[in-house]
Amino acid sequence: MTDNRPILFFDSGMGGLSVLAPTAALLPHAPLVYVADSAGFPYGTRSEGEIAARVPALLGRLAERYDPRLIVIACNTASTIALQHVRAALDVPIVGTVPAIKPAAEISRSRVIGVLGTEATVRQPYVDDLAARFAGDCIVLRHGSAELVEIAEASLEGVAPVPERMRAVLAGLFDQPGGERIDVIVNACTHFPLVEAELAAAAPHPVRFVDGGPGIARRVAYLTEGQQWPAAPVPGKAVFTARSARTDALVPALARYGLAGIESL
Ligand code: DGL
Repeated sequence: MTDNRPILFFDSGMGGLSVLAPTAALLPHAPLVYVADSAGFPYGTRSEGEIAARVPALLGRLAERYDPRLIVIACNTASTIALQHVRAALDVPIVGTVPAIKPAAEISRSRVIGVLGTEATVRQPYVDDLAARFAGDCIVLRHGSAELVEIAEASLEGVAPVPERMRAVLAGLFDQPGGERIDVIVNACTHFPLVEAELAAAAPHPVRFVDGGPGIARRVAYLTEGQQWPAAPVPGKAVFTARSARTDALVPALARYGLAGIESL
């Protein structure tokens, strides 16, 4: 019998599309539900307590409504703060998105890595732990930017990033002591790969960017190996926790990611 249960992707906004896209490429018949917590956006300026309370409760309601076979928390902020709480609360396999410090350390030659995330993500002990475990011989510089989340979100509405603003965001990393030696930047917020080309163009010298998207796609494929899928690709759906003129402006971008149906929670 065909298993129509979807894979559910969850983010505060549109950033999780950078995780959905590589997964959809690897599993083209997987039914996809993309959830943006537009009522709670942005997460990066919220407290740990707010995120730890909000995300498991919301995912509980979503799991009940969409009966997913697997949930991807396609948000570094939510994952670094609430991943254990969600796993404890739900009886569904959960894949989180955490800063790709390990792959960055594997390719850095200068041994100076930049981690660009939200303010909430870059202050997490989870990030200290990843840096200590996988990049012990590197200098790991961090910078949190709420502005870059907004720029990425607006880019999906068709507003092109302004190079001067991108340079200002990157200065938060490159202007730190040792920053001139950064050769790899971890996009530790799922919004940032959406504007990676513009970030690369604004960097003071060539750097490589890494993010968790491709690794998560491989992990999802591994965890669902042997499962049944619909015989042909099915249109995905997008779910907002609150609709507004702003979310409506995102509908064409969602369609480009194969998300045709729009729903509210
Ligand atoms: N996309 C999210 C992340 O990966 C957070 C953006 C926000 O809501 O501040 O951290």
